[in-house]
Amino acid sequence: MAGATTAELVVAVSEAGGLGGLGAAALTPERLRRQIQAIRQQTEKPFNVNLFSPVVQDFDPAARPGPAALALIEQYSRELGITTTPVLESQYPDPGEQLAILIEERVPIISFHFGVEPEHVEAIHDAGLMVLCSATTVAEARHLDAIGVDAIIAQGSEAGGHRGTFIGDFRQALIGTLALVPQVVDAVSVPVVAAGGIMDARGIVACRALGAAGVQMGTAFLGCPESGIPRVWQEQLLRSSADSTGVTTAMSGRPARGLRNRYIEEMESLEEPLLPYPLQYALSASIRRAAIEQHNPAFPAMWAGQGVELLQIQSAKALMDQFIRESRDLAGQLARDR
Ligand SMILES: Cc1cc2nc3c(=O)[nH]c(=O)nc-3n(C[C@H](O)[C@H](O)[C@H](O)COP(=O)(O)O)c2cc1C
Repeated sequence: MAGATTAELVVAVSEAGGLGGLGAAALTPERLRRQIQAIRQQTEKPFNVNLFSPVVQDFDPAARPGPAALALIEQYSRELGITTTPVLESQYPDPGEQLAILIEERVPIISFHFGVEPEHVEAIHDAGLMVLCSATTVAEARHLDAIGVDAIIAQGSEAGGHRGTFIGDFRQALIGTLALVPQVVDAVSVPVVAAGGIMDARGIVACRALGAAGVQMGTAFLGCPESGIPRVWQEQLLRSSADSTGVTTAMSGRPARGLRNRYIEEMESLEEPLLPYPLQYALSASIRRAAIEQHNPAFPAMWAGQGVELLQIQSAKALMDQFIRESRDLAGQLARDR
C-alpha cells in the first residue's frame, strides 16, 4: 500500500507468519534503499516490495486542467490558506530505476500493479527472485501467466486503493472477489492470491475455499498504528461503512476505491475531462497535504475497501495472530460440520 506501509508494518507482518509488503511506488531510490535496509535490520523473514508498472509514466506532460477544475483548486486553496500553485509533474520515480535497486538488494518477492513488463519478469527471474502482479479480469490473469509471473493477485472490485486493471476499460473489470477468484484459479497454472474485501478469518477461509493459495489484505491493516496513515484518515475509516467508498478517477486520474469526500464529489461533477494519472494527483498534492495537516477530511485521498466497517484498531502482530488462530478454528469447525 503505497503511502500506507512502513518498515515496521512489513516487519510485524512477516515476523507474525505473513508476507509483509512495502508499497514503494512513491519512494525515491534513496528512500527505497533505506526502507529495505530498515526491514532487513529487523527481520530475517521474507518480505515483498511493490512497484507500479512503467505505464504510470506514460502520459502527456503538457496536459493542463480545464477552467472548472482550476477554479475548484483555487477555491480549496483559499479555504485551506494555501498560496502556492500546483506543480503539474509526476511525483513518482522511474519504476525501472526502482526495480534495479530491488534486484541489487535481492528483495525476495517483487510485485507490480497495473501490469508488468515481460523484460522485468525476465530480469527478476535471472536474479533468482520471484515476481507477482495483480489482475482484475481472467484475461489479465491469462496474460500474466503467459509472461511467466510466479503468482497472480486476483484483485476483486471490493478492494481499496487503485484498480490494477491494465487491459480494457476499468468499468468492465469491476468483478467481485467471489466471482473473480475461482475463474482466475481455473484459468492459470500458477498460485492465485485473493484480494479485495478480506477483513478477517471468514474472508480468509472463504478465499481458500475458492481455490486461492493465499490472501492479500490491505484495508484490514489501516487500523494498525504501524501503517502510519494520518489520523484524519484513520478516524474517517472508523466512521465509514461499505457504502462510504466508491471507485473514482477524480482523485488521481486512475480508478481507485476510497472514502468519498467533497473533493471527489465536486471534481466528479465537472463537465470537462480530468487530467491523466499522475497529473490529476499532482493537481491536488498541496491541497491534500494541507488538509491532512489541518485534520480536514474533505480533501485527502483516503483509499479504503468495501470491508471498511470490519476494521479493527490493533497492532499488526495482534491482528496477524488473530487471523491465523481464527482461520484455523473456522476451517476446523467447517470440516467438523460436514
Ligand atoms: C491505502 C491503500 C493503498 C494501496 N496501494 C497499493 C499499491 O501501492 N500497490 C498495489 O499493488 N496495491 C495497492 N493497494 C491495493 C492492495 O494491493 C489490495 O488490492 C487491496 O488492499 C485489497 O483489498 P482490501 O483493501 O479490501 O483488503 C492499496 C490499497 C489500499 C487500501
